[in-house]
Amino acid sequence: MAQLWGGRFTKETDRLVYDFNASIAFDRKFFRQDIEGSIAHVVMLAKQGILTKEEKDVILKGLTGIRRDVEEGRLQITEEYEDIHSFVEANLIERVGDAGKKLHTGRSRNDQVALDMRLYIRIEVLVADELLKELLETLLSLMEEHTDTYMPGFTHMQKAQPVTLAHHLGAYFEMFKRDRSRLKDIYHRMNYCPLGAGALAGTTYPLDRNYTASLLGFEGPTLNSMDSVSDRDYVIEFLSALSTVMMHLSRFCEEIIIWNSDEYRFVEIDDAYSTGSSIMPQKKNPDIAELIRGKTGRVYGALVSILTTMKGLPLAYNKDMQEDKELTFDAIDTVKGCLSLFTGMIRTMKFRRDVMERSAMRGFTNATDAADYLVGRGVPFRDAHGIIGRLVLYCIDKQCGIEDLSIEELQAISPAFAEDVYEAVSLKTCVEKRLTVGAPGKAAMQEVIAMEKAYLSNDKGMSPGENEPLVKNGDGE
Ligand code: ARG
Repeated sequence: MAQLWGGRFTKETDRLVYDFNASIAFDRKFFRQDIEGSIAHVVMLAKQGILTKEEKDVILKGLTGIRRDVEEGRLQITEEYEDIHSFVEANLIERVGDAGKKLHTGRSRNDQVALDMRLYIRIEVLVADELLKELLETLLSLMEEHTDTYMPGFTHMQKAQPVTLAHHLGAYFEMFKRDRSRLKDIYHRMNYCPLGAGALAGTTYPLDRNYTASLLGFEGPTLNSMDSVSDRDYVIEFLSALSTVMMHLSRFCEEIIIWNSDEYRFVEIDDAYSTGSSIMPQKKNPDIAELIRGKTGRVYGALVSILTTMKGLPLAYNKDMQEDKELTFDAIDTVKGCLSLFTGMIRTMKFRRDVMERSAMRGFTNATDAADYLVGRGVPFRDAHGIIGRLVLYCIDKQCGIEDLSIEELQAISPAFAEDVYEAVSLKTCVEKRLTVGAPGKAAMQEVIAMEKAYLSNDKGMSPGENEPLVKNGDGE
């Protein structure tokens, strides 16, 4: 049991209490961020004359040495320490002696952990954004390929009107594009540095918080020290954005599972992304799509957990906030895994144009267009709707489509029908005449595709050079 505190205690901590309280099993995950924050803190302390240049150099050498040794496997982060902050500080003191004891000057673990968590989340926002971008690129190339692939569009899971596969995929393109814009908002809102807030009330040392913030690539320092140590809004916002990503993935997976079924056969998931059954030799299951759909609950769980943890917390820091980490880390890893797998799955999936097109021809997906045809021939829409309704009933009885009826049969129901009706209700016409912005007609779709292409190629990402460490391992040695 290695602790940073103990002076005012007369008894050893109970072992169970120690284990219950410790966070190193999971906060070790932001060990790099912890060191990076300490480096910035020390550089600032030296600039302000709070540490000498010699002390700064000794501490930086120690910190980068710890980082290198952990990265290269020479130093293990063990559960002997309470948390990652204690691990780093204790190791530093062991390495460089008394100078190491000055690292924590003008700092508390409260602002330190707030910083580490921000640094960790900030990178993960960028990683999630990059994965979403790759998914959008994959979707866009499929959209370009399938502007002529007709398929039924559904409402209430009933065939409604024909669309194209490009159009259907384009709906998801919009969803994931909004997800990226949410991440961008979060990044900018969270990009302020809490370090220097101290335990809750700032510090009497003349810290230059603007400088620390700029060293770490933040827009500036946070403006209220109590809020700085007790704010986890950015965790909530990020988990909320990730939950929305999962909700979108899950809807898409649900459709793929349906499309991949023997009843639909719109798609065939590649062998590499399917699994078999231990008993039924014929099976090829869409397990990956199902698992992504299933893992959505897990990510929602993390969001609800942190919202619940935060709801009753008085200002400022409370230990409850240590609970912000495990489920958040798990949710982030889950979403990243799901995004990569999903992109791979749709990239390799086979879309069966012929089956989709045949399906679009059935189910009276041209009934609205047939009514619109009558409107064009002077029949008021409400009457046209009634006529086509009767026509559909007639066809159901005959087990055929509207386009299969003879002109005599059509005219027996309404004299307004003429020979050009067949052309007007053909699948091609039904799709291609839909040319308003955002509609499936090829020309309209191509305009949107061009806009999305420009959106992707103008995208420069959020913050290049994000991963460059402030001081490289081995510097100053
Ligand atoms: N492990 C703690 C956390 O995750 C670090 C901050 C501890 N501060 C304190 N005063 N106990 O929140």
